[in-house]
Order: sequence, then C-alpha cells, then structure tokens
Amino acid sequence: MTLMQMMWDSDAGQVLLEDGCYCSRRRSGDKTTISEILSVKKGAGVKMLKHLFDEGAKVLVARCPSNYASNRWYLRRGFTLIETSFTRSSKIPLNTWRLTRQELQETPS
Ligand SMILES: CC(C)(COP(=O)(O)OP(=O)(O)OC[C@H]1O[C@@H](n2cnc3c(N)ncnc32)[C@H](O)[C@@H]1OP(=O)(O)O)[C@@H](O)C(=O)NCCC(=O)NCCS
Repeated sequence: MTLMQMMWDSDAGQVLLEDGCYCSRRRSGDKTTISEILSVKKGAGVKMLKHLFDEGAKVLVARCPSNYASNRWYLRRGFTLIETSFTRSSKIPLNTWRLTRQELQETPS
C-alpha cells in the first residue's frame, strides 16, 4: 500500500486506487454501501469493485439517480436493480443496485 492510498483509505471511508478510481464507501458488517464512485480510466471501475470485495464485503449496494448513464455500468458489471424510489430532496428517482462477488462480471463484453 502506498502513502497516497493510506491517506485516502481512512475511517472517513474513502478509497483511491492508483489504477484511476476513487470511491467513497461505508462498511457495515459484510455490506459495503458505495456513496460515490468515479473512474478516470476504463478498467479501474471493476478493479475498485474487486478491491471492495477483497477488503471483506460480501455484498455491495449502490444508489444512482435513474437518469445517469452509469446505470448501464452497474448492469454491465452484474449488479441487480432491487429498488427505484423517490427521495424528498430530489424529483429524480433513485435506483438501488446490489452485487455479490459471485455475480460480478469482470470480463470485457
Ligand atoms: C461508472 C464508472 C465508475 C465506470 O468506470 P469504468 O472504469 O469505465 O468501469 P469498468 O472498466 O469497470 O467498466 C467498463 C464497461 O462499463 C461500460 N460503462 C462505463 N461507464 C459507463 C457509462 N457511464 N454508461 C454506460 N456504460 C458505461 C463501458 O462501456 C464498459 O463496457 P465494456 O466492458 O462492455 O466495454 C465511470 O464511468 C465514471 O466514473 N462515471 C462518472 C461518475 C459516475 O457516474 N459515477 C456513478 C454515480 S452513481
């Protein structure tokens, strides 16, 4: 682990992979909830998902506004859409996605 990763991989729940992906996540038991994920290099997103499983998650949960193009990425990586709901603060419905390690689609299409 590099110094940069140690600085980011803090209790605040932020992970920065040198492969080019940042994520903010909350761990609770064997469930990890992704609050934000941002990749600047194709291939880094799936590496982050693998990293989150490697650090102990059995299931990943992510919420994404239903009008974001990245919903297709969740689908592409094997996530299951488990709920679409409205929040008080937004008129855009929020999708809730769920993934186990066995469901992760790692290979290129
Ligand atoms: C979503 C995101 C993290 C994916 O990162 P990545 O490193 O490209 O992901 P991967 O390498 O694991 O996956 C690449 C595959 O997903 C697809 N994909 C990635 N982003 C996509 C998007 N926004 N819309 C549709 N498909 C997308 C690619 O076409 C590619 O498919 P292929 O393997 O069949 O060629 C990245 O696009 C991103 O940072 N988006 C902006 C921030 C964002 O929307 N975050 C999610 C908020 S809910």
